[in-house]
Amino acid sequence: MTSEPIEFAGKALENEILKLKKELNAVILAHYYQESEIQDLADFIGDSLELARKAKTTNADVIVFCGVHFMAETAKILNPEKTVVIPDLEAGCSLSDSCPPDKFAAFLKKHPDHIAVTYINCSAEVKALSDIICTSSNAEKIIRKIPPGRPILFSPDKNLGRYIAKVTGRQMLLWDGACIVHEAFSEERILKLKLEYPEAKIIAHPECEEILLSHADYIGSTSKLLQYIKDDSASVYIVATEPGIIHQMQKTEPHKMFIPAPPQDETCACNNCPHMKLNTMEKLYLCMKNLTPKIEMSEDLRLRALAPLEKMLEMS
Ligand code: 13P
Ligand code: SF4
Repeated sequence: MTSEPIEFAGKALENEILKLKKELNAVILAHYYQESEIQDLADFIGDSLELARKAKTTNADVIVFCGVHFMAETAKILNPEKTVVIPDLEAGCSLSDSCPPDKFAAFLKKHPDHIAVTYINCSAEVKALSDIICTSSNAEKIIRKIPPGRPILFSPDKNLGRYIAKVTGRQMLLWDGACIVHEAFSEERILKLKLEYPEAKIIAHPECEEILLSHADYIGSTSKLLQYIKDDSASVYIVATEPGIIHQMQKTEPHKMFIPAPPQDETCACNNCPHMKLNTMEKLYLCMKNLTPKIEMSEDLRLRALAPLEKMLEMS
């Protein structure tokens, strides 16, 4: 991607972004995994479900989506009359990449009697082929609403699917996809940390592998993890999700200690999502200044992807 030189930095850059926000009548939406400067500047920070809801109800003319591509695409599907820009168009997702639409269509064709419940971390094309979309916040609720006799295909995250199958008691056929970030945590290093901090609670996102979830004191989506550490009385937590969320945890509970769960790679102490971290303050400024890269899609695709997303919003 070509990037143009920027003459501002620090506070001046922040002020320029805020100036553009006013001029454009824009809203800045950010996921919890964005870098802390972006989170601090955003009008709204949330998990995938909260961001989708916010994108649907905003009065702004321009949605500046600081997250990954499928999230910005969801905002466009829900809000076609708005301009939706993302700081870096290359900000993808390993789960979405694991599920190409042609292979997904073949999977559905093999199981025509199944209902396709698909995690929001997928492309618009895959959404368009699905019956209902879910996020990690509402997956359990949605699966519980599916009539007991109806077989279910759950895609593309096998770890979330396995976890939801376990808590709901529903058998589901799972697509073989995973998140590169949540699969990279080291059980051994986390257990070593637990010996060092025996009072610490392990909290984990359901995208983590089963063995890791078996050690967790609490499992939930990003917003549920954040809520948990506010309500809970412990003072130390080992956080097994992307460490961007720790910024909000530390802000709301400054006296508590949050330790990022370490990955298998011994050279790193934490486990950043390389896609989420492609967005920077400089790219945020440029995407607002140039109103590009924009999220665009055909109206036919948008309408087909909208139906299962609306079903999700009705059901959750
Ligand atoms: P939530 O914020 O919805 O929990 O999703 C986590 C995630 O991996 C987003 O990419
Ligand atoms: Fe995708 Fe994992 Fe990054 Fe979330 S953390 S955007 S699921 S690769």
